[in-house]
Amino acid sequence: MSKKTVLITGANRGLGLETARQMGQLGYHVYLGVRDLAKGEAVATELANHGIESEAILLDMANPATIAPAIEAISAKSGSLDALINNAGVNLDEGRKASEVPVDAIRETYEINVFNVIALIQAALPLLHKSPAGRIVNLSSILGSLTYNSDPKAPLGDWRLLGYNSSKTALNAVTAIFSYELRNTKIKINSAHPGWVKTDLGGPNAPMELEDGAKTSVWLATLPEDGPTGGYFHLQDRLPW
Ligand SMILES: NC(=O)c1ccc[n+]([C@@H]2O[C@H](COP(=O)([O-])OP(=O)(O)OC[C@H]3O[C@@H](n4cnc5c(N)ncnc54)[C@H](OP(=O)(O)O)[C@@H]3O)[C@@H](O)[C@H]2O)c1
Repeated sequence: MSKKTVLITGANRGLGLETARQMGQLGYHVYLGVRDLAKGEAVATELANHGIESEAILLDMANPATIAPAIEAISAKSGSLDALINNAGVNLDEGRKASEVPVDAIRETYEINVFNVIALIQAALPLLHKSPAGRIVNLSSILGSLTYNSDPKAPLGDWRLLGYNSSKTALNAVTAIFSYELRNTKIKINSAHPGWVKTDLGGPNAPMELEDGAKTSVWLATLPEDGPTGGYFHLQDRLPW
């Protein structure tokens, strides 16, 4: 396979699907990481109707046992991976205060938003090293900024969600620490805040449309050799950690 390849988790709807569409339009072969293969196959058929080459691959970010088979399948088919977009993410706080959100909900949030992202990065690194320009994008959020969470006047309003925000803070640390280990390689890794985007997670009042919401991920997944690594971005602006 000569096309560039990208693996996107949570690619069956929301930002993941729009990112798949935009990466496909750039000529990438898109591996659609989904936890429901039937949904993923329906998405691949729909994308094919628009000339986008993709295929669904089972990847349940709550179940680390799905990671190795997914990476093995990509290895067998493509032999390398040019970009990994860790897009799947959940908010299980349900608006509850820090004093009220059950620890089990936080644990589950961390499994999906942090621990299995680490596991997927570790599993995908050998394939990313085989690319001339491997790129890793971690979908964080402005709600993960420790600078903002530690400032009562920061523009987060009451969005001080113990599970979600702290999981994205941890994910930002994952970005920073991997970037150090990878600093002398061709691989770049960055955190993205897509904006507040109209999706099931963002809700109908979000000001940003999907098309713009996917832009930060697409930019970071296709960075040129002189592009940044170990950063935290919205569009092309750096955010405070
Ligand atoms: N929308 C925003 O305003 C906003 C702002 C900042 C950051 N973000 C981040 O951007 C990313 C995408 O958000 P979104 O708004 O597109 O969310 P969304 O509309 O809720 O979609 C979430 C996607 O993640 C998938 N997913 C959930 N749990 C999964 C699991 N265990 N394994 C695999 N996939 C799973 C979902 O698949 P199913 O259909 O199977 O559930 C779906 O494809 C998230 O990391 C989110 O935190 C979003």
